[in-house]
Amino acid sequence: MNDNLLIERAKSNRRMAYAPYSEYLVGVALLAESGKAYDGANMENCIHRCTHAERVAIDQAVFHGERRFSVIAVVTDSPEPAFPCGQCLQDLTEFDDGKGNLKIIAANLEGVVRESLLKELLPVRFGPANLGVDNSQTG
Ligand code: THU
Ligand code: ZN
Repeated sequence: MNDNLLIERAKSNRRMAYAPYSEYLVGVALLAESGKAYDGANMENCIHRCTHAERVAIDQAVFHGERRFSVIAVVTDSPEPAFPCGQCLQDLTEFDDGKGNLKIIAANLEGVVRESLLKELLPVRFGPANLGVDNSQTG
């Protein structure tokens, strides 16, 4: 799936968000190395717990056996597209290529698109290798 399709998918996923408290809707589409894409949107509740859109997509991908991600697209309705927060960057580090080459695309509804790499947004990362773990094949 190319980047434009991934962005369109994230834009459509944004409409599935449940965010009545912040009213800030986030949609993501996560491309795994298998070539399959996984969907996510943020979910909030009345005790102000938030499941970030990225976390929703990551969990679905891992549930389906994915262990390596290539690209994530994030769509928000903000003048400047918003990249994932620090916690989500850490969560993505778990399933990158071990070198931070996961591509992160941030876009808004007006079609402004920014692009970066995990290693640029989180230059010093704590990952599975720090614990001597190769998680590429693990259950
Ligand atoms: N949010 C995400 O879904 N991902 C991020 O990385 C940043 C924040 C959500 C959480 C909450 O529902 C809303 O955006 C406002 O913080
Ligand atoms: Zn986050």
